[in-house]
Amino acid sequence: MPASVIVGLQWGDEGKGKTTDFLAEQVSTVVRYQGGDNAGHTIVIGDDTFKLHLVPSGVLYGHITPIIGPGVVVNPATLIREFDGLISRGIDISKVRVSHAAHLILPHHVALDKARESALAGDKVGTTQRGIGPAYEDRAARLGLRVEDLLDPASTAARLARVLPEKRALLDALGATDYAEAVDADAVAALIAAWGERLRPHIADTNDLVQRAYARKEHLLFEGAQGAMLDLDHGSYPFVTSSHPIAGGATTGGGIAPLQIDEVMGVMKAYATRVGSGPFVTELTDAIGERIAVTGHEVGTTTGRRRRVGWNDAVPLRYAVELNGVSSIMLNKLDVLSGIPEILLCVAYEIDGKRVDRWPTSSAELARAKAIYEKFSGWDQEITNVRAMADLPENARRYVTALEEIAGAPIVLLSVGPERTQTIERAWRPLRHAKR
Ligand code: IMP
Repeated sequence: MPASVIVGLQWGDEGKGKTTDFLAEQVSTVVRYQGGDNAGHTIVIGDDTFKLHLVPSGVLYGHITPIIGPGVVVNPATLIREFDGLISRGIDISKVRVSHAAHLILPHHVALDKARESALAGDKVGTTQRGIGPAYEDRAARLGLRVEDLLDPASTAARLARVLPEKRALLDALGATDYAEAVDADAVAALIAAWGERLRPHIADTNDLVQRAYARKEHLLFEGAQGAMLDLDHGSYPFVTSSHPIAGGATTGGGIAPLQIDEVMGVMKAYATRVGSGPFVTELTDAIGERIAVTGHEVGTTTGRRRRVGWNDAVPLRYAVELNGVSSIMLNKLDVLSGIPEILLCVAYEIDGKRVDRWPTSSAELARAKAIYEKFSGWDQEITNVRAMADLPENARRYVTALEEIAGAPIVLLSVGPERTQTIERAWRPLRHAKR
């Protein structure tokens, strides 16, 4: 049985939660490998809607071990709140495991994220203000506290006493207010002790769990948060997140080795969205954009911010497929485009009068890029009840086929509604190792 990675091919919010949920029945373990509570998964099962930020969506299945891997940054307050929410709805969270090596998001990280964003004034990244960047900074600076430190409150308090004065000075220099408690060593130490008691049964060496499940030939699913175009190194820097959502991130952040990965399923929407600042060549600011945003409920799960909406863009799509080594694709939210008379697909950019097919290496060039569009006729029919590609309107099939050709990877799952069953299964997924 394979190890599969699920990655977003756009700027996040591609519907990876639905993909994981759809595949969940056949997997034993779901591993989150990067990001933190900046992510948001919405899963709809019948009349129930679950919004998860940190806990892998596999938690909704009793047979799955949901793992938060070492590459994730964990805000214990959010995790505990999410546990409580799930428990109150009758979901068993006892199998959730959190890596001892995952870094903690502490109150001062959240305060710093907010303070930096305010200080940036007109150049904001538009972060989710969850402390993600500052927590990863401390990890790289070897100043961070890890989940294992929750179990040793005495020595953790001593380390906090060394770190917090520096954070206080930084917050002060950034003109932050209202941060006294976030840098109060006693207050934070008390939080840590309480979090440790609550999370103790869930803390584990998750690399060992992953490798033992792999040795038992179970099917593991590595669930990326955000999307390839928000990758710290490969996205549109600096308008990116501070981790590696691409498939390679599963190795460093999930505890799986590169040659153990059999399959990379890329997830994309039938159109594009982006939250926060940064270039978005195909952005729609007209009534069609508004219509897609409303029909597609394009509001952030984490921040409640309205997502920016645009046409699909082949330039980042081809780049993301290459970068992730995508072997199959799930295309989500095709139903949202029903009733739009003409659908545009950006096939290349025009930059300074020249046609460009590759994702630009310079942010300045990207800012000058104009979309070159191919036009597709739309379809009027409601498609939410369609369950086979052959039953889709011809114009919808044409559009899907064009996306598939551009991506150069088969679209094997196609979503026509939020519910788990509103999915067209075209073929079973081609496993990379089976092809060799
Ligand atoms: P951060 O991850 O909170 O530091 O935010 C950095 C950038 O990534 C901002 O543009 C956010 O809007 C974006 N971002 C972070 N998480 C998500 C997500 O789950 N979906 C979409 N955008 C996200």
